[in-house]
Amino acid sequence: AVAVWRRVRSRRGWARAVAVLKEFEEGCATPVSRLRQVVDAMAVEMHAGLASDGGSKLRMLLTFVDALPNGDEKGTYYALHLGGANFRVLKVELGGTRSAIMKHQDEYQLIPQDLVTSTIEGLFDFLAMTLKRLVEKDGEGSGQSDDTIKELGFTFPFPLKQLSISSGTLVKWTKEFAIEDANGKDVAQCLHEALIKSGLEMRVAALQVNDTVGTLALGHYEDEDTVAAVIIGTGTNACYVERTDAIIKCQGLLTNSDEMVINMEWGNFWSSHLPRTPYDFDLDDDSPNQYDQGFEKMISGMYLGDIVRRVLLRMSQQSDIFGECAHLLSTPFILSTPLMASMHEDSTPDLKVVERILLDEFKLPNVSLKARRLVVRVCDVVTQRAARLAAAGIVGILKKIGRDGSGGVASGRVRGKPKRTVVAIEGALYVSYSSFKEYLNEAVAEILGEEVAPNVVLRVTEDGSGVGAALLAASHSLQR
Ligand code: GLC
Repeated sequence: AVAVWRRVRSRRGWARAVAVLKEFEEGCATPVSRLRQVVDAMAVEMHAGLASDGGSKLRMLLTFVDALPNGDEKGTYYALHLGGANFRVLKVELGGTRSAIMKHQDEYQLIPQDLVTSTIEGLFDFLAMTLKRLVEKDGEGSGQSDDTIKELGFTFPFPLKQLSISSGTLVKWTKEFAIEDANGKDVAQCLHEALIKSGLEMRVAALQVNDTVGTLALGHYEDEDTVAAVIIGTGTNACYVERTDAIIKCQGLLTNSDEMVINMEWGNFWSSHLPRTPYDFDLDDDSPNQYDQGFEKMISGMYLGDIVRRVLLRMSQQSDIFGECAHLLSTPFILSTPLMASMHEDSTPDLKVVERILLDEFKLPNVSLKARRLVVRVCDVVTQRAARLAAAGIVGILKKIGRDGSGGVASGRVRGKPKRTVVAIEGALYVSYSSFKEYLNEAVAEILGEEVAPNVVLRVTEDGSGVGAALLAASHSLQR
């Protein structure tokens, strides 16, 4: 009788776990009709964000980048790239023709965890000292004074309210950074002061750009049809080239050029058309930046693993498919997105990778093959939704700039022929997670339809956040 009762109980447990999956799957559905609503919402919010500051959750920040590199840049430039967990300094030699980029010295340095939440001075002193070490190693800075101006592109992958290409204040930290005394400070000025303090003997002309802008610069350098750039890594964001007369909030002020790159900060995009589940609400409630970065929280690498963890936790509470000791599943962020991707793409016939991860990371022994398949399904649902929403975001930009094929001449047709449009992409989710990439490409093609899709190219650039910043330092050089 005990054995029979156990079987019945476990069958019921299984049914409840499957019900959790089904309900989640329905909540995450992204049929093309819904994606089109997201496309429209993105284009509408872009207009609103360009009309006035605060007009939309989409910040649509001015970058003051009004010229993109075109291939004839020449000289030696430095780039500082503040990434997630690390920071890089690189020196780039540009030879004046497209193919002649030489990267010298590319140093990665882990950012000590306490600096991510301490003071702006602490963080920037660390950046300045790292740059100093590199320059000195290069034999250029130490001891003897060097009067040549060293030009530097500083990639600052957070929202900045820029006043010029080389000054701007932090709007808000995103991702894992939270340094309170930085809010409202001029980031370039802080860097400048730290460089002076470090005793680095060089005159630095620093220009600061968002990482998406670096990606767009490199994309454009390599392929002139590039009009937008997207990053899908720890965070997600996009930028694109806008006509200055469409930037209503600054009309009259931007008289020097016809175009400007806009940093959308699309991670903060919000629309009621986004398929949001109770797990997303909970993730937002538990986050340090509640009500912000809603789009990012459904798409980027910082969060996807944690959404999966939340669904698995729910399954473990509703059923016994993970056995008795699933308490580790309640630890926030214990399931990273790279681990989630490994489980999702486990190609062993009996899901050995999933088995090992469940055991090593969550101390869950003997999870049945059936239950492991369920885990893979959850990863699939989360990834598919993320990739398809990012795809809708991309088409939203194309719609705003008339390249989505929805309306005659304005939609980028040259004498009846649609224009080739390139979007540069970077970030580990797209570059290293093949299911994510496939879902995204597929959804872009699905939304655009057979006629337009072949004219839109999503092209991976390599290291726009680094090299792109150096290229921009060159194309906006004081010495030109
Ligand atoms: C976050 C930042 C944004 C950055 C993106 C990708 O969304 O707010 O500025 O571009 O991450 O790194």
